[in-house]
Amino acid sequence: MNICLITAVSNPGCTAHIREAFVAQLNVLIPGARIRQFILPKDGPTYCLGCKACFFKDMSACPHLKATLPIWQAMEEACLVVFITPTYVFSIPGQLKALLDHFGSRWIVHQPSPKMLGKQALIINQAVGAGFRSTLIPLKHSLRFWGIKRIYHIKARLGMTDYDLVDQKAKAKLNRQIERTIRKIMSKQQDVSPGLFAKLLYRAMAFGQKGIHKMLQKKDQPATSDYLFWQKEGWLDGHFPWKGKA
Ligand SMILES: Cc1cc2nc3c(=O)[nH]c(=O)nc-3n(C[C@H](O)[C@H](O)[C@H](O)COP(=O)(O)O)c2cc1C
Repeated sequence: MNICLITAVSNPGCTAHIREAFVAQLNVLIPGARIRQFILPKDGPTYCLGCKACFFKDMSACPHLKATLPIWQAMEEACLVVFITPTYVFSIPGQLKALLDHFGSRWIVHQPSPKMLGKQALIINQAVGAGFRSTLIPLKHSLRFWGIKRIYHIKARLGMTDYDLVDQKAKAKLNRQIERTIRKIMSKQQDVSPGLFAKLLYRAMAFGQKGIHKMLQKKDQPATSDYLFWQKEGWLDGHFPWKGKA
């Protein structure tokens, strides 16, 4: 089983300890799991410049492709995508936001990758005390709009910033949550059919792309890259990526 594991911060603190505990459990529960790891900000891109080359052309036109492509490809190749992140001021750390910004053009509404359909994802979010909901939202938005089917999350309220001082009960609870969630993920592993949300959005966007195209034609404007992408894939004619598959 291929797993892509992205850690939002690189300092050797609570997040790193949680990653170690997670990887240890993965190796026990999924023997032979192949884990591809990325640690931000070292392995990630710098901030999105807003050039929009990814929207106007495609992702390969991004000036930060050297950093973004290995991560995107690792996610595409994985059965499970995992993010481990602390909460920073009630949100995700800036370097993780910078990474997500670079994949905006791969949302279903633009130029999605069918490889994301049917995939599972897990977010492990740790914080001292508060801000879990608002941290999970931006990550879940990206995962959902890339087309990922099932998104699990674990919230770890540590109560301390120093892992050595974190209550043993909190650590034990987190370990139990990790084990339970990995088992749940494994039990769903065979179901790789696309989720309802993704299917509905693909269908809605086939209409949307055609509508936008007609409007631009009336104004003598050229077809958008998104439209040409959808046309090339055959999705405008209803040949969606899940059609014709078992
Ligand atoms: C800039 C910054 C902002 C933080 N904001 C929050 C917050 O809003 N809520 C919270 O409960 N913890 C917050 N924390 C604590 C972190 O979520 C985390 O628990 C702590 O940094 C320990 O993790 P680490 O050792 O991996 O860095 C913040 C930490 C930092 C460095």
